[in-house]
Amino acid sequence: MKTIKSYINNNKSRFINELFELLKIPSISADSAYKKDVLLTADFVLDSLKKAGCDKVELCETPGYPIIYGEKIIDKNLPTVLVYGHYDVQPADPIDLWTSPPFEPVIKKTEIHPEGAIFARGACDDKGQMYMHVKALEYMTSTGNLPCNVKFMIEGEEEVGSESLAWFVPRNKEKLANDVILISDTGMIANDIPSITTGLRGLSYVEVEVTGPNRDLHSGLYGGAVANPINILTKMIASLHDENNHITIPGFYDKVEELSKNERAEMAKAPFSLENYKNALKINDVHGEKGYSTNERNSIRPTLDVNGIWGGYTGEGAKTVIASKAFAKISMRLVPNQDWKEITELFKNHFESIAPKSVKVVVKPHHGGQGYVTPIDNIGYKAASKAYETSFGKTPIPQRSGGSIPIVALFEQELKSKTILMGFGLDSDAIHSPNEHFGVWNYLKGIETIPYFYKYFTKLSK
Ligand code: BES
Ligand code: MN
Ligand code: MN
Repeated sequence: MKTIKSYINNNKSRFINELFELLKIPSISADSAYKKDVLLTADFVLDSLKKAGCDKVELCETPGYPIIYGEKIIDKNLPTVLVYGHYDVQPADPIDLWTSPPFEPVIKKTEIHPEGAIFARGACDDKGQMYMHVKALEYMTSTGNLPCNVKFMIEGEEEVGSESLAWFVPRNKEKLANDVILISDTGMIANDIPSITTGLRGLSYVEVEVTGPNRDLHSGLYGGAVANPINILTKMIASLHDENNHITIPGFYDKVEELSKNERAEMAKAPFSLENYKNALKINDVHGEKGYSTNERNSIRPTLDVNGIWGGYTGEGAKTVIASKAFAKISMRLVPNQDWKEITELFKNHFESIAPKSVKVVVKPHHGGQGYVTPIDNIGYKAASKAYETSFGKTPIPQRSGGSIPIVALFEQELKSKTILMGFGLDSDAIHSPNEHFGVWNYLKGIETIPYFYKYFTKLSK
């Protein structure tokens, strides 16, 4: 019997080349200029699933971008693993900061990836990680090592809120019926410290618009006498945190799950170096909510961040002007028990209430989603843990992440199954940033680990 290790060795360069072809298509879901490319990527994924051994593949139309579905059912009495991933990517800008073009993948060595990393938008989030599952399936089907049924559901709108998937899932419950959902769209602590993500934060994303006078004004003739929307907006934003970096929106923390001393002590055992953290980001100090560690601030605590702010004159030179309008995009990361719709409402009410009479404020909710926590006492987690033990030679550490995959909570609600988050990326892989990359070692290690998950999950299901 061919082992997964030898299969990977024999097919390594093909695995990398195929991923390169996928990475070359700029499937930016946020920008309609790339619509053709997003659709081409959907076709690519469909084709790759067919080649990897799915018996049935479908391009499922939705109100937005299509969802690619594939399945291989070997025996109705065996368990079914549903793999989820996304084929869309974040915009590449700022383009100038990339050391090689975002859609021309290349392998470059880095300090953390001495064996080389694939540099391209989507290399880690999520094309590279999604494609590991396609190649793991290829191995299992072509060598007679698929121990159970498998379904794939790969969407093209994750980076813009998964609206079409939220439409698709409740309409296709039977098709998507499964015993466990498997996702590789998160990270791990380090290549020699494997970890399994056990939590995701929720999200509320809003846009605000502050309007002062009905038109842009000469800042000498009117300055000092009318409200400047940019001055007002920045002041309003600044007031959303107090001196301890607590969020000031009334009721914001009411439902936040407080962890016990024990749970926090358990969390603090995960290896972490504040010095390395600061060095990697070239910062002199960290910043955050008083009373919590860095790892707590970015996982078990809710946050509020401005993602973008604009208004007035930002061209070359100087222009003396009071703009009519100022805007900001604001996201709040949420933790278990906080409801994103409720938080959005709290934000809206508060933000409108702190606006002075001299301006008009409009709060426009974008998208959002609930957080998620996976228990570690179920067979899905146990199977994943054993899979890592086999391929890494180490027991993985359970760790809650600060990122969000809002659709995971909906999966649980609609499909009644748990999600296992087997991520193989690293925080330093620069997802959503210029020079996103994914270690070649990580890519191949993922392909190696996944079939063990199927094996142990099937065994533990008996
Ligand atoms: N794959 C990420 C989420 C992620 C990355 C979770 C690393 C944990 C560790 C996903 O593609 C993503 O970027 N999600 C968005 C939310 C979405 C609604 C746009 C996020 O977290 O900002
Ligand atoms: Mn992702
Ligand atoms: Mn992402």
